[in-house]
Amino acid sequence: MSIAVITGASSGMGRDFAEEIARIEDLDEIWLIARREDKLKELAGSLPCPARIFALDLIEQQSIDSYAKALTETAPEIAYLVNASGFGRFAYAPEVPLKDDLDMIDLNVKALTALCFLSIPYMKPGSYIINMGSLSSFQPVPYINIYGATKAYVLSFTRALNVELRPLGIRAMAVCPGWVKTEFFDHAVTDNGAVTYYNKLWESKDVIVKAMKDLKKGKDVSVLGAGVRFQVLLCKLLPHRLVMKVWMKQQKHSDRTA
Ligand SMILES: NC(=O)c1ccc[n+]([C@@H]2O[C@H](COP(=O)([O-])OP(=O)(O)OC[C@H]3O[C@@H](n4cnc5c(N)ncnc54)[C@H](OP(=O)(O)O)[C@@H]3O)[C@@H](O)[C@H]2O)c1
Repeated sequence: MSIAVITGASSGMGRDFAEEIARIEDLDEIWLIARREDKLKELAGSLPCPARIFALDLIEQQSIDSYAKALTETAPEIAYLVNASGFGRFAYAPEVPLKDDLDMIDLNVKALTALCFLSIPYMKPGSYIINMGSLSSFQPVPYINIYGATKAYVLSFTRALNVELRPLGIRAMAVCPGWVKTEFFDHAVTDNGAVTYYNKLWESKDVIVKAMKDLKKGKDVSVLGAGVRFQVLLCKLLPHRLVMKVWMKQQKHSDRTA
């Protein structure tokens, strides 16, 4: 049984990945994972292939165990794994409740890693792993501090994994967009004005179309937009102290730079 597994399928880019992969691939089933069951059911009803819903909070270890159990019981062939569950917080780091930071690390890093390693034994040559990174994967980001650090992990982990999986014919790619119009901002934005400047908001569907093209081209990182790619280049060329200074100025926090 050929399947695709999509986390974060209840909204935003995870939902759009599910729709696109269900449309272009011949799947026996698509597995949709997120906490909001109603949203997953709604999506399942609109897809061209059968869907299995996993209403799971991936911060919880028992949710990871449930996924592992479903794999053992079903023994599917995983054609695609998309790790799109994730959240961020825009705030002065010492004021973020520690639980939020640790939950962010558990979801953006730990759950993503667990899903990769649980899924790989069920993959075959030609299977794909897509992990959601971010433009913030490329630089330290004050006021999105922990989130940026989790996304740096995703980029580094995914690129190295792609090399390690090459003998198995399995490919891994990190998707690293700039700001994208999704529910992300409903959870990330705090009322303390920590991050207020967004240079451009991209459409989720455009990120997904570009990612699927880059995947077929054999890329290990997908970045949509010439402007975003230019920012990535600057992050690689300039000292990160300077890159952070520019970011702080854009966010009108220059008074806090040392
Ligand atoms: N939007 C941006 O500007 C942007 C830019 C770069 C990268 N990203 C990354 O792209 C990915 C997708 O985000 P998005 O922009 O599409 O935002 P989104 O619409 O808020 O989607 C986030 C998804 O994660 C799921 N999720 C959150 N907490 C979860 C938990 N504890 N367990 C399981 N699933 C959970 C949510 O579903 P439930 O609430 O139903 O659980 C939702 O489906 C994230 O990793 C995000 O960091 C976003």
